[in-house]
Amino acid sequence: MVRALAGAVLLTTVVVGMARAADAPPIYDKKCKTCHSVGGVGGPMAKNGGPLDGIGAKHDAAWIKELIADPKSKNDKAKMPKVTLSPEDADAVANYVSSLK
Ligand code: HEC
Repeated sequence: MVRALAGAVLLTTVVVGMARAADAPPIYDKKCKTCHSVGGVGGPMAKNGGPLDGIGAKHDAAWIKELIADPKSKNDKAKMPKVTLSPEDADAVANYVSSLK
C-alpha cells in the first residue's frame, strides 16, 4: 500500500513535471524561495541567496542536488544551509533549477 502510494506520488510528479516544466515545483516555493528569486520574484530573504536565473547554464541537476544536500561540499564558505529533501523532492527541485538557463 505504501509502495503503491509512493509510486503514485512519483508518477504524478513525473507527469506534472513534464506538463509544466517551466513552473516551480511546490517544494521550491517551500524550501528555496525564501532566499532566492526567479524572474525577479523571490521570498523575504531573496537578497541573501540571490537570483537563480541562468543557473542551469552553469550547473546540472546532479550538481544542484549535491549542493542542496551539503552546500559546503561545493563552497567552503557557503552560507546556504543544508536542505534535507525526500529523493523525489530533491529530483523535482534540481530538475527545475537546472532548467533555468
Ligand atoms: C536560508 C537561505 C537559503 C535557502 C533556504 C536556500 N538557499 Fe540557495 N543559497 C543561499 C545563499 C546565501 C547562497 C550564496 C552562496 C552561499 O553563501 O552559500 C545560495 C546559493 C545557491 C545556488 C548557487 C550556487 C553557486 O555556486 O552558483 C543555488 C543553485 C542554490 N542556492 C539553490 C538553492 C535551492 C535549490 C534551494 C532549495 C532547496 C536553496 N538554494 C535554498 C541561501 C539559501
